[in-house]
Amino acid sequence: MKAVYTLEDLVSREVLDAGADQPARLAVLGYPIAHSASPRMHQPALDAHRIDARYIRLEIEPGGIPEAFDRMRALGFIGCNVTVPHKLEAMATCDEVHPDALALGAVNTVRFDAERTTGFNTDGPGFASAVRDDFGVPLESLCVAIAGAGGGAGQAIATQCVLLGVPRLVLVNRSLEKLDALAIRLGGLGSGSTEVSTFAFDDPFLAAACLGCDLIVNTSSVGLKAGDPSILPEACLREGQRVYDTIYQPPVTPLLALAAAAGCRTSNGLSMLIHQGALAFQHWFPGTDPLPVMRAALAG
Ligand code: ATR
Repeated sequence: MKAVYTLEDLVSREVLDAGADQPARLAVLGYPIAHSASPRMHQPALDAHRIDARYIRLEIEPGGIPEAFDRMRALGFIGCNVTVPHKLEAMATCDEVHPDALALGAVNTVRFDAERTTGFNTDGPGFASAVRDDFGVPLESLCVAIAGAGGGAGQAIATQCVLLGVPRLVLVNRSLEKLDALAIRLGGLGSGSTEVSTFAFDDPFLAAACLGCDLIVNTSSVGLKAGDPSILPEACLREGQRVYDTIYQPPVTPLLALAAAAGCRTSNGLSMLIHQGALAFQHWFPGTDPLPVMRAALAG
């Protein structure tokens, strides 16, 4: 068994399953992929449901998704997750894409059926479930500010907020061009009931806009590296606010530390990772309840 497989391993069951007790029938595709935590939660869920399948990491180079899907289908795979940088390529390669994934412009979950390959996106719904679980409130009731909204995670969460019809959405990004394009795309979605505004980090009105929000979310990569500052200053935070950082390593980012000191309720991206994984699992195996096993597996 290998920690990471490649396209060359997708040639036969003999090669792919050499040294393994169970057949590889699910995978996460990315480039690079060695760091992915997905097998650590999906394998225990498969085992708990007594499904005879192995969940593997597959390193696929950009441009390799159509070939990978063809080979996986030929080998009888049930489906896969796709991560950076393949979410767009996967969407283009699927025969059918769920409308919410189309709205998000990205696919992170794929199901191979006999007749077709279908794409879904569980990032946005996974975030909504995480917020409900961690803070005990429905996302749709909250005014939300997203810092780093121009990146992949930010766009997924912003889209989910508009699809759910949150009252107000404050989008913050370093480069404003990305935000303008996003705001235009969001304007064509949902019921049109969400008031969307965009800010640069040095906008003098940013603090007031954030203070008016119930939930602050960091979707930027700021906070990942040791020595990173908080993506937002203290002036943007107030007691009683909820602050979610999509980063989970480190578990307490500078933003979360600042928020806790300001009296905010905080949570990190581990819950989003678990919820998007559980929703993906349910696309492959409807009617299952993988959440408790996945949660325990990643906590341990
Ligand atoms: P992705 O691959 O998901 O698009 P990314 O390129 O790593 O992600 O960027 C994620 C987000 O982090 C982006 O919103 C990015 O801002 P820009 O759109 O302006 O590039 C943000 N980001 C990264 N480094 C940042 C920094 N030092 N300050 C502020 N935002 C930053």
